[in-house]
Amino acid sequence: MQTVLELRALTKHFPTHRAVNGVSFAIGHGEFFSLVGPSGCGKTTTLRLIAGFEEPTSGQLLLDGHSVEGLPAYQRDVSTVFQNYALFPHLTVAQNVAFGLERRGRPQNEITDKVGRALELVHLSGKEARLPNQISGGERQRVALARSLVLEPKVLLLDEPLSALDPKLRNEMRHELKNLQRRTGIAFLFVTHDQEEALSLSDRVAIMNLGSLEQLGTPQEVYRTPKTRFVAEFLGNVNWLRGAGVRPEAVRVSRAACEGASAAVVEAQTFLGNCVHLRTKLEDGSACTAEMAQQECDFQAGERVYLSWNTADEFRVP
Ligand SMILES: Nc1ncnc2c1ncn2[C@@H]1O[C@H](COP(=O)(O)OP(=O)(O)OP(=O)(O)O)[C@@H](O)[C@H]1O
Ligand SMILES: [Mg+2]
Repeated sequence: MQTVLELRALTKHFPTHRAVNGVSFAIGHGEFFSLVGPSGCGKTTTLRLIAGFEEPTSGQLLLDGHSVEGLPAYQRDVSTVFQNYALFPHLTVAQNVAFGLERRGRPQNEITDKVGRALELVHLSGKEARLPNQISGGERQRVALARSLVLEPKVLLLDEPLSALDPKLRNEMRHELKNLQRRTGIAFLFVTHDQEEALSLSDRVAIMNLGSLEQLGTPQEVYRTPKTRFVAEFLGNVNWLRGAGVRPEAVRVSRAACEGASAAVVEAQTFLGNCVHLRTKLEDGSACTAEMAQQECDFQAGERVYLSWNTADEFRVP
């Protein structure tokens, strides 16, 4: 895969805070790449450095192989979709989408044509003349996307674009976002602190912590073989048993003892809608949660059970 954007030891130290510490990664053409991590770990600062809203303290940034350091934001071939959408309230949907092309002095017929196609892409044809307060939150999100896509950037930077939406709409927009990315072929650098969103959408995921990159890989790699305790715990639930990490869905629970199984006592179960979490305690005092379907879970609190898992489902971290 040919690289479209490369960060080399990118660093941003504010007078009072080291927000980004030597972050390096490369994104391929047409890739859906997610940057995840807890609040304050430096995700937005990283995007702002790429977009040119901040200058790095040190490190390099290459877009299609060319250094973009020192280039003002409007001369970089990237576009940003902000968390709060930042639409112009007094401009119509079509005018919001046209804004960037007008600023670039494109001819009117090209603008009309491209705006029409961008709105079609995000399913907003027919709503061109509405103002932002005359459309729904999900539609405003689509206008924000169209406004960036219409510029045909080399990389689209998305900073938590779905966080203002309710869970159902958020789920729908996830799929739309993925479709849009595939149809346009534009590389997406998607920032979220929702690990499920990142795992389900991305070709590759980078996990950040305290301004540094902890791990980078496909969703399967980072979830199944996390390299640090932080990554393991950030990406999902994990049981630490006999020095290894095991995900709750990999734990089998039975009433019959079998070879290699660990005896445990059921403490409680939590109904989560699509599954049940069964909390148990092993004889050595360590806690272990097993995830199973509701219909498989007929265990009572206080009951003695046996836990087992495949060694292939274990991972070790330093
Ligand atoms: N201009 C600034 N001056 C000083 N510190 C800053 C500045 N901008 C950001 N920071 C600090 O840098 C750290 C990283 O901020 P950033 O906005 O990149 O985090 P984030 O990962 O996007 O978090 P969130 O998930 O909450 O959006 C934070 O501790 C923040 O307070
Ligand atoms: Mg942020």
